[in-house]
Amino acid sequence: MGKGARRVFLVGIIVLLFPICAVPGNSQTVYKVCSRCEGDLRNGTAVGDLCRSNSSLEREGRCCLQKQALPSPIIGLDLWNCSLTQVEDLHEASAAVIIDLSDNPLMNISESAFQGFTSLRYLALPSNLECPGGNTSWEHVELIGETVMCEGQKNACNGTEVVSWFCPENSLCKPDGPGLIQCNCAENFHGYKCLREGMFPMLKVFGILGVATVLVSAVLWFTQRRKAKSF
Ligand SMILES: *[C@@H]1O[C@H](CO)[C@@H](O)[C@H](O)[C@H]1NC(C)=O
Ligand SMILES: *[C@@H]1O[C@H](CO)[C@@H](O)[C@H](O)[C@H]1NC(C)=O
Ligand SMILES: *[C@@H]1O[C@H](CO)[C@@H](O)[C@H](O)[C@H]1NC(C)=O
Ligand SMILES: *[C@@H]1O[C@H](CO)[C@@H](O)[C@H](O)[C@H]1NC(C)=O
Ligand SMILES: *[C@@H]1O[C@H](CO)[C@@H](O)[C@H](O)[C@H]1NC(C)=O
Ligand SMILES: *[C@@H]1O[C@H](CO)[C@@H](O)[C@H](O)[C@H]1NC(C)=O
Repeated sequence: MGKGARRVFLVGIIVLLFPICAVPGNSQTVYKVCSRCEGDLRNGTAVGDLCRSNSSLEREGRCCLQKQALPSPIIGLDLWNCSLTQVEDLHEASAAVIIDLSDNPLMNISESAFQGFTSLRYLALPSNLECPGGNTSWEHVELIGETVMCEGQKNACNGTEVVSWFCPENSLCKPDGPGLIQCNCAENFHGYKCLREGMFPMLKVFGILGVATVLVSAVLWFTQRRKAKSF
């Protein structure tokens, strides 16, 4: 990016961010998942207790939000007794530490439902379900009545689990939720299985593409023009 372009880019960002920063009173993010079903956070539950224990957290429908941060992330989510039949679209709560989905007629949970939920430390599910990533992805799994409690998410990149050798050479393993990992290429490596070294050859690739496009266009223009003339 040239100096001029960079300045325009920076000014654009500042102009875009200004209304957000300038109006602190009007900063509350509206999350759909917090008003998914009736009622508020219950007292005397994991989510309710977390929210009450810390003055930087506040209640919003079925959610516990962190006030000072912007946008206020969902720290706790209690969707207890919500008649949920499937776990879809919880991504608004991907920063959550505690999620309660107990007492719902859930049939199964997709492998990726909690992808990106790296802060999740406590998850309550109806007892017919397994903890996401399996029992081995959690420090402690307990069955109490009709609820399975998955506590203490393990770092899937750490330890003797199969995944620790899953990432190719030249890449770094990064946790990506219960039992899930991401392989990110190490610095200076890119491409398939991170086998290419050096910066991505942006100029070369787009340069060749550009030249090819111009050549093909020129050839087409000439041939089509000749055709048009011969009629
Ligand atoms: C939970 O307790 C707080 C005060 O500790 C109270 O203001 C709130 O109404 C209670 N909520 C419910 C659902 O009982
Ligand atoms: C309150 O919550 C904030 C944000 O989640 C955290 O940084 C802080 O350590 C908490 N304080 C206590 C006393 O738990
Ligand atoms: C569960 O939700 C249903 C429907 O919203 C409600 O009628 C029922 O009272 C709730 N159960 C409890 C124990 O609050
Ligand atoms: C739930 O299970 C059914 C049948 O086993 C399967 O077809 C469906 O894809 C599963 N749904 C999810 C979200 O995993
Ligand atoms: C996971 O742990 C729970 C609670 O200890 C147990 O009921 C369940 O059978 C375990 N699941 C597997 C697949 O081992
Ligand atoms: C990795 O595993 C070791 C031993 O199993 C444990 O002591 C350590 O706390 C773990 N680190 C993380 C980041 O989970």
